Amino acid sequence: MVEFDRFPVGGNGHLQIGGCDSVELAREFGTPLYVLDEARVRTACRQYREEFQHRYADTEVSYAGKALLCQALCALVESEGLGLDVASEGELHTALGASFAPGRITAHGNYKREAYLRRCLEAGVGHIVVDSLPELTALSALADDMGCEAAILIRVAPGIKTQTHTFIQTGQEDSKFGLGIASGDALAAVRRAAELPGLRLRGIHCHIGSQLFGLDSFRRTVEVMTEFLAEARAACPTAAEVLNLGGGLGIRYTHEDAPPTVAELAAAIAKSLVACLDQHGLGRPTLMLEPGRSIVGPAGVTLYTIGVVKEIPGVRTYVSVDGGLSDNPRPCMYGAEYEATIANKAGRPRQIPVRVSGSHCETDTLIRDVPVQAPEQGDVLAVFATGAYNYAMASNYNRFPRPAMVLVHDGEAEVIVARETMEDLVRQDRIPARLQRGHVPA
Ligand code: LLP
Repeated sequence: MVEFDRFPVGGNGHLQIGGCDSVELAREFGTPLYVLDEARVRTACRQYREEFQHRYADTEVSYAGKALLCQALCALVESEGLGLDVASEGELHTALGASFAPGRITAHGNYKREAYLRRCLEAGVGHIVVDSLPELTALSALADDMGCEAAILIRVAPGIKTQTHTFIQTGQEDSKFGLGIASGDALAAVRRAAELPGLRLRGIHCHIGSQLFGLDSFRRTVEVMTEFLAEARAACPTAAEVLNLGGGLGIRYTHEDAPPTVAELAAAIAKSLVACLDQHGLGRPTLMLEPGRSIVGPAGVTLYTIGVVKEIPGVRTYVSVDGGLSDNPRPCMYGAEYEATIANKAGRPRQIPVRVSGSHCETDTLIRDVPVQAPEQGDVLAVFATGAYNYAMASNYNRFPRPAMVLVHDGEAEVIVARETMEDLVRQDRIPARLQRGHVPA
């Protein structure tokens, strides 16, 4: 018997994740608990490498750490032969602390502070993705000053509007990200990069959006980017060594979602890429990809304890759990939807429609309407597909400590992020002397 996304149900009727009994996990590690299934992460990494390299040999896949980053995950994706895309100095620090090979790191950000750029250069990251003309100039000066050369990609806004939530559309002309092709900024950046000291321009980059289901946007991106690559090469011969198409493949959050598979994505991209490269006489640049959500999203399950079941006759049943907005802001931010099951009653028919609410001081609905088994106080609720952009976007709203994360594999569970404690919540607080208890204002 299986639950959503083929998560198995044990003989005792409990949901299993990575060979572990999820009810036992909740008991041992407490709730809310992020559970990450190592085998699923590894399979996704392999699928990306194999499906792409099989169709386009010179493909390098970097995991987009913004989806979920901690040091164990750095080690995990590196062991699968993936590079890493970092979006901030904090992500870079995390990766370097996990001894991730710097040469396989790609550094992003639409505004990178000097300290971040400096750290990238000191560490010797593989590529810095330059997002604006001022950054190009600043990076050149910094690299020149430090006596090194920065290998760069130029982030281009290809002018492609994708079908996804507006917050996560990133390839359109009207965007804070990248240098526009239509405005001429992208080509101007290529020319500048060719002239400035301290820079070695290796290629171009784009990322059109996230949670995408349509292969046509990827095909269109390949057309636009290869056309620009030809122009860029004419302006700077080294600019056509790398074509980085970012990430964006969507995943299944509910039964209604039907995203393309990695194999389908690879087939669509490789086929149009080869045709377009040939059309422009471009040879075979290194193809780089940066999937985040599709690597870790389906591998994550969040376990909560049900604390309150409130039935409003003729209206609905509210099920309140011991987490919410602070561990998963996506429903509030994007209207994101999820599937859930009661882990200790898994496999039984899910017949009672409920609204799953968090326990924050506002209406933090986690799931608007989901059928579950008869919910009772003390049950363990499992929410699926929470591996991406949950822990990564977690906060301490209402001073909720962030949950722990365990990595499960072959029936073993290990903590990879410890649960925050009450002490952690006040660790950075300082009370000025004049506000201290007992101090009498003059
Ligand atoms: N590369 C770049 C430059 C990106 O900006 C992103 C995501 C990725 C790669 C990875 O995209 P993915 O494969 O995960 O779709 N917080 C939002 C998602 C923001 C995505 C931002 N950029 C959410 O929870 O849906």
